[in-house]
Formats: sequence, structure tokens, C-alpha cells
Amino acid sequence: MGTTSAAGGPPPGDPGSASHPSPPGDAPREPWRRTAAAAGLLAGDDPTPTVFEAMTALASRHGAVNLGQGSPDEDGPAWIRERAAEAIRTGAGRANQYAPGLGLPALRQAVSAHQRRHYGVDLDPDRQVLVTTGATEGIAAALLALVGPGDQVVAFEPYYDSYAAMTALAGARFTAVPLRPPHFLPDPADLERALGPDTRLVVLNTPHNPTGVVPDPGLLGRLVEVCVRHGVLILSDEVYEHLVYEGRHHPVATVPGAWDRTLTVSSAGKSFSLTGWKVGWVTGPAELVAAVRAVKQFLTYSTGPAFQLAIAGALADGDAFLAEQRDRFRAARDRLLAGLGAAGLDPVVPAAGYFTVTDLAPLGVDDAAAATEALAARAGVVGIPVSALCTPGSATMDPDGGREAGAAGLRSWMRWAFCKPPAAIEDAVRRLSVLPSVLAG
Ligand SMILES: Cc1ncc(COP(=O)(O)O)c(C=O)c1O
Repeated sequence: MGTTSAAGGPPPGDPGSASHPSPPGDAPREPWRRTAAAAGLLAGDDPTPTVFEAMTALASRHGAVNLGQGSPDEDGPAWIRERAAEAIRTGAGRANQYAPGLGLPALRQAVSAHQRRHYGVDLDPDRQVLVTTGATEGIAAALLALVGPGDQVVAFEPYYDSYAAMTALAGARFTAVPLRPPHFLPDPADLERALGPDTRLVVLNTPHNPTGVVPDPGLLGRLVEVCVRHGVLILSDEVYEHLVYEGRHHPVATVPGAWDRTLTVSSAGKSFSLTGWKVGWVTGPAELVAAVRAVKQFLTYSTGPAFQLAIAGALADGDAFLAEQRDRFRAARDRLLAGLGAAGLDPVVPAAGYFTVTDLAPLGVDDAAAATEALAARAGVVGIPVSALCTPGSATMDPDGGREAGAAGLRSWMRWAFCKPPAAIEDAVRRLSVLPSVLAG
């Protein structure tokens, strides 16, 4: 990969060069409070459970179909699970003892071969690949390694909630850039406006949770160009890389100018419907991967070797499953979109991922979070309010500062997961058909 020099800001790949003068003035002092507050999970003095836990509990209280949490109801292929079970049973490859901190060589080599086969990216499995306990640990370790007090982290909003929470834990300042309906494409000019002298890192997420947007290489190129001009690092979250229904996935690291400044996180959880295994990886330039490893080794040290062995096999031999799963989820997406349409809604057609997002305003809902109880109790269906994936009080939710309810913000939007079997989707569609009368009543 070529070398790109940054104009201004800290040089990419130099994790130690930022100056870290002071923590943000108004952030709570205790790290756990900062973390919870950044995710909107502080009620007075007490931490509250995440919206995913709250919505799952709501669904089970009402016997509702749970289209909230993004975890598939059907487990990934038996042959992958058998490999892990066999390794645990026999202890082959020291499968029940600490794995090396970097990850098992077999998995690092499999990640490297996977990147070459799918994207033409050559990675040194010993220096440019780090196995993590899910993508979530990769995100956490990267942010803790690379940003601190005095730094700004920028991400598009709505976003996977760990970005803001981990930025806060690292003591840095988080700025969210709105994605706007109806297309939710990230706007390079909006990104440019958010960047300043303290910006250290931009988080990109493609395919995007929750909108399912997959920016094309031209748009990715313009986003990367902004990052290059400002000399900032990029953390690219690509966990939905194998769930693209229209077009194809384009890794940010392959965009001209991106490689030297980009860490990519991905995970086996979404690709192989094995979200509970928490096997992920971080790839990128050796010096950035080494910085992430320096922190990761004191978070978990290493990740379950039996799962790593099985995922190494899955990455090598799992392409047929990936294609079959993609077709299945595309059909589930289309059925759910049709059901939401029949209920009088105009859902976003996601090009990728597990979710669609829908404005409930046409049914008279100004605040999706406030409507969850009624939806669960009276329609028997549960989603995740998009506001839970936004910074509390952000302009993305309430563009006019909350003065006018539903003023083209995302407060009235709900996220629905379709990574479910056909029977669950049919059940959800049946229940959604009563939405107009339930919400009118
Ligand atoms: C965008 C995004 N990144 C990361 C994750 C977490 O990945 P993992 O389960 O591998 O930690 C999720 C899970 O929902 C996600 O939606």
C-alpha cells in the first residue's frame, strides 16, 4: 500500500504524538459516569441498562415479537459450531488455555487470506492483524489507545453506541455529525465542518448501523479526503461487510489515501450468525495495530482459542454460507419492508445490515421512545428508538432544539431488525398491520 502524507495535524501512524492537555471541563469526573452519561444511561446518580436490554425485557413482558436487538434467532452453521465443540472436547491446539495475545496464528492467517480473497488487500498476519473479543473490544482498545483528554472524536449519527461511550471513557470529546433522511448518506461537507484542530480520529461505519447505508467508493473517497486534509486517524467499523444486499462492500482502507491512517474492525458475529462468540479483529498498519494491542492485552489479554480455531475455518470455507445467509436476510428484509409499507409507513430500504429505520410520524408518533410501551402492549412488537443511537439532546434528533415536535429529526424514528426467521417476520408483519389503529386509539 502507498504512503500518504497528511497536511497538518498529527502524522498518521504516530500514536504517541498528540498533546493531551486537559479533560473536557463539564464531563463527570468518574470514568464510569462519563461512559454511562455519553450513552444516555445515567438516571440521576444511577446507571441504567442499555436500551437493548430494556427493549428485550419489554418484549418478554408483553410476549411481543422482538425486532429490537440485532442478534439472529438462528445459530450459524453446525459445522462451524462442531469445530469449536471438538476443540474444547479434545483440547487440541491448547484450545482450553490462554491463546497468544495477538490471536491464534491460524485465525490471523485466515483473516489475512480473507482480506486478500475478498478485497485484494495484503496483510502481514504477524504485524497487521490483531484478534479481539468481538469488534466491540477492538473499538474500545483503539479509542483507549489513540485518543485522550484534549482530543476530539467525530462520528456520524445515529451510531453504534460504543463509539460515544468509549470516547468518553478515554476522556476525549465526542462530536456527532447528523445523517439525514431520506437517504442518510454521510456528507463530506458536514464532516469537514465538524473537524477542528483537536480532532484526532473519525469513526466511519460501513455498512451502517442502523440505516443500512453503503457509501460508494466515490463518496468514501471524499470522506477520506477530508480526513487526510485534517491529518486525522480513521477507525472503520465494517462488521456488516458480508451482509450487503445491493451492490458490494468497499473497505475504507482500500480507498486511495486511507491505508496509512486507517484501523479496520470486523467480527465473525454478524457474518456467521455467532454473535455470542465475540471473535473480532483489528487490521491496519503495523504501528497502529501495535498501539491497539498495547491496550487490548490489558483488557482481556486474549480471546477463547476454541472459537478462534472454528472461525479460522469459517473464514476459509464459509463463503457458501455467507451467500445463502445474505439471500435469506434479503428475503426477510423485503417481507418486513412490505409489512411496514402496508401499515402506512415508508421504511428506508437498507442496502445492507440487519436493520431498517422508519419514521412513525405518519402514524401520529412524535417520540418513538415514548411509544415503545404502547407498541409492545397493544401491537405486540418491539423495535429500538433511533434516539437511543444518538447523543442525548443532539441536533440529529431535534434539529430545532426540540421546540417543534417531529421537526424532521429522528426522534420519531424506530429501528427494526430483520435478522429473524421467516415465521418471526410473518408474525411481526401481522402485528404491524394493526399499528395504525393501535396508535390512533
Ligand atoms: C456497527 C456495529 N459495530 C460493532 C458491533 C459489535 O460487534 P461484536 O459483537 O463483534 O462486538 C455491532 C453490534 O451490534 C454493530 O452494530
